[in-house]
Formats: sequence, C-alpha cells, structure tokens
Amino acid sequence: MSRTALPVLPTAQAATSAADTESIHQEVRRLARQHDAVILAHNYQVPEVQDVADFVGDSLGLAVEASRTPARVIVMCGVYFMAETAKILNPDKIVLIPDLTAGCSLADSITVEQLKVWKQEHPEALVVSYVNTTAAIKAESDYCVTSGNALAVVESIPANRPILFLPDMYLGTWIKTTLGRKNMEIWAGECHVHAGIRTSEVRARHAAHPGSELLIHPECGCTSRLVWAAGKGALPTETTHVLSTEGMVKQARTSPATTMLVATETGLLHRLRKEAPEKTILAADERAVCRYMKQITLPKLQHTLQTLSPRVEVDREVAARARQAIDRMLSV
Ligand code: 13P
Ligand code: SF4
Repeated sequence: MSRTALPVLPTAQAATSAADTESIHQEVRRLARQHDAVILAHNYQVPEVQDVADFVGDSLGLAVEASRTPARVIVMCGVYFMAETAKILNPDKIVLIPDLTAGCSLADSITVEQLKVWKQEHPEALVVSYVNTTAAIKAESDYCVTSGNALAVVESIPANRPILFLPDMYLGTWIKTTLGRKNMEIWAGECHVHAGIRTSEVRARHAAHPGSELLIHPECGCTSRLVWAAGKGALPTETTHVLSTEGMVKQARTSPATTMLVATETGLLHRLRKEAPEKTILAADERAVCRYMKQITLPKLQHTLQTLSPRVEVDREVAARARQAIDRMLSV
C-alpha cells in the first residue's frame, strides 16, 4: 500500500478510562501473540501506546530491535521513516504502522533530487544522513546516523574525507563543532518541533530550577548556543548534556541530580518519569509536541493488529542500497 492510499481508520477517540485502556491493552497483547508480532514504540509515543509496547526506545534502539527480532510481524509505533527503516532491515517480514500518514518535517526537508545535485557539486564527499530521512535518501547515502551514535560514526570517517551531512542543521552544527571537523557541509533542514525550543525559554526555566540538570536533544535550535553558554560558564558544564532520547533516559536513571529539565519532544517525559520515578522531570518547553508522533493512538494500534494493515513497503532495489548505509551505522 502506498503512503497516500489510506485505509479507513477508526476515529482517534482516546480510551476514556483506565479500564478501557486496560481492556484494549489486553486485546492488543492477545492479537500480538496470535500474529507473532512485536510492538516497537518510539519514546515520543503517547503513554498508552508506550505502555503496551514490547520495546520503547530511540531511533537507534528501534533499528537495533528491528534488526534482531525473531517475530514474523513488526508493528512500528512511530513515524513513517522508522517503519521504513524496519522494513529495509526485514524485507521478508510484515511491517505495519498504525497510521501511514505519520510523517516527519525533518525527513521532508530534503528531496532525493536535491541530494543528487548536492552530490554532483561535491563528488569526492561521503554522504552522512540522519536516520530521519526517506528510504530513497538513505539509498543515496554512504552512512546513516542517529542522535545516539552520530559523533561516533562521523569520527570513524577518515579526517581527510569531506562529508555532506543532512538533513538537520542543528545536529550537523553540533557534530561539526564538537569534533572540530572543518570539511563538513551541512544541509539547512530542521525539525519544526525542536527548532521551536528557544534558548531564552530554556535559560529562563533553568534559572527557575537552579539545581536542575539540563538535557538537550541535538536537533534543538538552541543546542549550540546552550553548549556555548556552558563553555563560557553561564551554565554548569557538568550538568548540561546533549543526548539522544535514550541517552536522556540513561542520564535520568544514573545522575545524582534530583530535577531534570528536558529540551525535547514532551512524549519522553512519560518514559523518564517511569524509569526515574524518584526524580522531578520537567519540560524545557511544554509546547514541544510532535503532531506526527501523536497520530499513533491506541485504537489505531488495535485496528492495525486486527487487520494486519496498513503495511509498509519499500522498493527492493532502494531497500538494498539503503541497507548498506544502515548496516554501516549499526556496525559502528
Ligand atoms: P531519537 O533518536 O533521539 O529518539 O530522536 C528521534 C527523533 O525523531 C527526534 O525528533
Ligand atoms: Fe520528525 Fe521532529 Fe517529529 Fe522527530 S519530533 S518525528 S524530527 S517532526
């Protein structure tokens, strides 16, 4: 089924009570067992979807789980590129996503035609693509990275080799600055949710909670300025961290700080509060909500398992080329 041929989905009314949620959870678990399906959910999913999943994690964790699972069916509760990545890793399995139109503004910020022109302008360069890209873009890339391993992957590329990094300019700038890598061109794409998290708001919230640890996702528009502020002593360096969503979970579990201020999409707060219940977890910006992630609801997940649709398909030739970039990332 193509992304535009939409099935008729049940309306997105949320389960109204804890009893309703529990009964749908039981049905979802029963259907998952019946179809030998594994449910993978991104950290930004709504709480009732996270709570029924077999695995909840960041983009890297989801890709690793998808590459390892023995299940016959993979249900990806996340946005479309995450489901596509699971399909690329499992061309012979059924990969489902509860809403095919759950897109990503960042993945949409570069087309394959634009990438081909960019590559022609820099024929000697290696292309490093953030995982938030379409399969077609990955197929034109040498390496794939996620926020969880971007520094390690870029560092593994010989220093004399020029790099085209896409599509997130804030993540790209952070990598370039952190590694001091001069020969790296960066595409001017952004995620509208993270770009909207403003330095002034984060600083103001931090000032209101002075002992709090500051966790910043590298897609944030404020990343470089906050890291710069920490370097200049305006923020405490030892408690200011740039991390993937899973990195934030690990930090919250292990840090001695009692309050964490989190600059990323607010869906992560549920996971953080579950994993570190003794901590006070606060959003750096409560408006940081990804409407694409929220398109996946519990009734849609149930419907997907009842009908084994909608399915995600990736052209075999594109998938084979995209897989090389993903495999290179997973091996680093
Ligand atoms: P993570 O891989 O850090 O979970 O990020 C995914 C994403 O879409 C961020 O907006
Ligand atoms: Fe894409 Fe941004 Fe939503 Fe992540 S938060 S899925 S990068 S639009």
